[in-house]
Amino acid sequence: MNTMRIDIITIFPGMFGPVLNESIIKRAQEKGRVRIFVHDLRDYTLDKHRKVDDRPFGGGSGMVMSAEPIFRAVEAIRRKAKSRKPQVKVILLAPQGEKFTQARAKMLARVKHLVLICGHYEGVDDRVREHLADAELSIGDYVLTGGELPAMVVVDALVRLIPGVLGDKNSLNFESFEGNLLEYPHYTRPADFKGFCVPAVLLSGDHKKIEAWRKKEALARTRKRRPDLLEGGRSQKRRTDNG
Ligand SMILES: C[S@@+](CC[C@H](N)C(=O)[O-])C[C@H]1O[C@@H](n2cnc3c(N)ncnc32)[C@H](O)[C@@H]1O
Repeated sequence: MNTMRIDIITIFPGMFGPVLNESIIKRAQEKGRVRIFVHDLRDYTLDKHRKVDDRPFGGGSGMVMSAEPIFRAVEAIRRKAKSRKPQVKVILLAPQGEKFTQARAKMLARVKHLVLICGHYEGVDDRVREHLADAELSIGDYVLTGGELPAMVVVDALVRLIPGVLGDKNSLNFESFEGNLLEYPHYTRPADFKGFCVPAVLLSGDHKKIEAWRKKEALARTRKRRPDLLEGGRSQKRRTDNG
């Protein structure tokens, strides 16, 4: 069994406990599918004030996270994990990065060793992006105060995709963004709640009909809410057809 390793570099390590030690992420660690380590960036500073930031060259407001402790942290993690360079993917969380999607989560779930760098203040000295990170990821077009919540989002999305983490394989097969579709609607008991009834077909016991209904609903939802997904799927197909 392959165990994925994730290292998170942050100036707020205390933020991660409640997320990493609950629910599916906790169980994934207990099952040995993933090992997650949170590192305090200040442990990789050399001065007695444990300083991780400095004023921007060229002036301007705010502080910039220094490159040196981040490089030191990543190098120490690589050494400790004995990971060969191609096996480690270093990711800088940044609002300017490539948009994090389900497809990206799937790719990352296959990586052996992932290092996530959480920025703060005005951001991170650009030499980290240029010479250390393999990729920059953004969780959306908005600016958060730090990279901790984005790192948690990335970890949550990819850990559930590691083989063996979720019990029911089907829960992955049919969910949103598979095949460029949103998922069909779900209902549970009671069948009649305050006079709001679930679609009769779901009570019919006819699995073929239920499957057809779900496909139709998934398509209708996607057309209405996220037509861009269908367009994305078509252009992907065109690209494949044209080689
Ligand atoms: C206040 S932000 C810096 C924003 C930067 N000055 C800019 O305009 O692009 C501080 C840190 O939060 C993280 N961050 C903020 N929003 C993010 C997002 N949407 N996706 C990923 N990381 C984000 C990054 O690590 C970033 O370095």
